[in-house]
Amino acid sequence: EIRRKFLDFFVQKGHKEVHSSSLVPANDPTLLFTNAGMNQFKDVFLGLEKRDYSRATTSQKCVRAGGKHNDLENVGFTNRHHTFFEMLGNFSFGDYFKKDAIAYAWELITSPEWFGIDKSKLYVTIFKGAEVSPGQLLGSDREALVQWVNVGVPQSRIHQMGMQDNFWQMGDTGPCGPCSEIHYDMGAAASDQGHTDCTFGCDCGRYVEIWNLVFMQFDRDSSGKLNPLPKPSIDTGMGLERVTAVLQGVISKYETDLV
Ligand code: ALA
Repeated sequence: EIRRKFLDFFVQKGHKEVHSSSLVPANDPTLLFTNAGMNQFKDVFLGLEKRDYSRATTSQKCVRAGGKHNDLENVGFTNRHHTFFEMLGNFSFGDYFKKDAIAYAWELITSPEWFGIDKSKLYVTIFKGAEVSPGQLLGSDREALVQWVNVGVPQSRIHQMGMQDNFWQMGDTGPCGPCSEIHYDMGAAASDQGHTDCTFGCDCGRYVEIWNLVFMQFDRDSSGKLNPLPKPSIDTGMGLERVTAVLQGVISKYETDLV
């Protein structure tokens, strides 16, 4: 139901529902397994391939057991990492950008007609600016900040983070850009360290990233340099198992109906 609701939400916003691609990426020597929803659209972001739609939504089967996004060391130690998981996503190929991506995400997760998640449990992060490649500086993401404030997120719940958390790239090369994450406070019971009063930013397991909105703007080449994409685009990824835990009121993916 949760998977269906996500896809239906984006279909009614004009997105084409596209099937999950194979876990073994087609024609991509940079990846062993599919690690994100955007993999099958890599060439569309790069402007090398045209589709007859500029908005898409998927529930993509993913494995993160090696390479740039490797969750393997965390599996079994946290409540939120699996080797195999499904990534729910919406994509814009040179169509809408930050403003709509943020408005859609906030509507889907907080509207009582959709997921209806309690706003008082949510936090967002935005890119604070950094040297994104040697000699290339990218400033803090004011546009995302303004848009989160516009949809009603208090400034005190918007945190700025650096490359590690708020700049996403598929691999060592390829499409990339600053991102903005939505986190959910699972409560004290979810803290691995028994924290009862820690605040957002603590990595004890209490605050869980549920959705990442990537503002795809660059292609990183093999020298590490960032070259602009033909058009700014959107790539998002929500963890189906994590949002299911939230909606079922449990703190672990292992306690959801999926598992
Ligand atoms: N591609 C982005 C991610 O995997 C959404 O987090």
